[in-house]
Amino acid sequence: MGDKKKILLGVSGGIAVYKAAALTSKLTQAGYDVKVIMTASACEFVAPLTFQALSRHDVYTDTFDEKESSVIAHIDLADWADLIVLAPATANVIGKLANGLADDMLTTTLLAATAPVWIAPAMNVHMYDHPAVKRNIQTLYEDGFRFIEPSEGYLACGYVGRGRLEEPEKIVRLIQSYFRIDGRGPLKGKKVLITAGPTVEPIDPVRYFSNRSTGKMGFALAEKAAEMGADVTLVTGPSHLEDPYGAAVIRVQTAEEMLNEVMERFDQQDAVIKSAAVADYRPAHPMSHKMKKQEGPLSVEMERTADILKTLGEKKQHQLLVGFAAETDNVHEYAMHKLVKKNLDLIISNNVTIEGAGFAADTNLVTIHRKDGTSKELPLMSKNKVAESILLEAAAMLRLEKEE
Ligand code: CTP
Repeated sequence: MGDKKKILLGVSGGIAVYKAAALTSKLTQAGYDVKVIMTASACEFVAPLTFQALSRHDVYTDTFDEKESSVIAHIDLADWADLIVLAPATANVIGKLANGLADDMLTTTLLAATAPVWIAPAMNVHMYDHPAVKRNIQTLYEDGFRFIEPSEGYLACGYVGRGRLEEPEKIVRLIQSYFRIDGRGPLKGKKVLITAGPTVEPIDPVRYFSNRSTGKMGFALAEKAAEMGADVTLVTGPSHLEDPYGAAVIRVQTAEEMLNEVMERFDQQDAVIKSAAVADYRPAHPMSHKMKKQEGPLSVEMERTADILKTLGEKKQHQLLVGFAAETDNVHEYAMHKLVKKNLDLIISNNVTIEGAGFAADTNLVTIHRKDGTSKELPLMSKNKVAESILLEAAAMLRLEKEE
């Protein structure tokens, strides 16, 4: 099986066992070596043979059914795994694990395990909210177990709410990110702060000024930077995107909140990448009550927000500063002007008149401009690939500065 990462999948009894079968299939397709332990109740829902066929391994269901006489199965399996995933994890198995009970093959193996254990609960919404279950989850969290939160949706018991096992595709993505972040990489040991998304500037409690930024570029940067070994903080305005794996995420609304969160952390950073589309203006006098419409036109007085990047440029000591510039013409000239004005090390320009570049798109067409006046034009690429190129450029500069 070579260098394949080894995943031990623990399956406990609930209707979501069918999703664990899909998870096994997707994990093996993604190149993982998967072995499965099932509880007795899990076997009531789906036969072990299904998991055996999908994983191409024997399925373990009984502590005393030793398949190989040279080893003790539960110890051998516990040692074998690089990562253990419990999906679905019932309230019962969570309760047993939280209390150190070991009365079947799954719980016995879990007690012997030293690999990280991820728990993906699946149960009825009221069970999930039960104080005992909450207490057990808290205990396990404090013991170092990690949880893949159940998603919200239609539950087999007829309720709609939290308790549904996270989709197999999502679990596979989390596992893939986990194995990519292995503590090595060109940004190992570096602290990187990234901003993303739009800001929203209130007019009154229900209305605001904002822009079309989705956060895609900044979220891609955060996930890639974590993969490259950095200690990542993402400060983002409102975005529908899920937290990128491996980054500490701080969600803000206004330019002022973003400024405060960034400034508070600036001293400790090695690099700050400002991909957020920060509002340049905000209503000067936001109303505390909902504005009533009047006859005739309305004008709202706007005032400038603080330029976060410029403020960072004035304060910077050792930090590498990277800005973004959306331009429609004279791209190099305008971008370099911003780089100098804000005291940046790199600026990433995109010509927003070109299809496939800018907001909402999954791709971007950018040029990286360096403070020495040289630049590098990248071809049209996915935002993930663009993120990688920008971060490699930043990593190279951080290394150079260290050598100077
Ligand atoms: N930026 C910031 N704080 C602001 C405005 C912008 O930190 N209040 C940052 C953005 O995150 C981005 C860069 O500055 O990295 C963009 O520079 P900016 O001069 O705002 O660009 P434009 O808004 O395109 O400016 P202009 O209208 O002058 O072209």
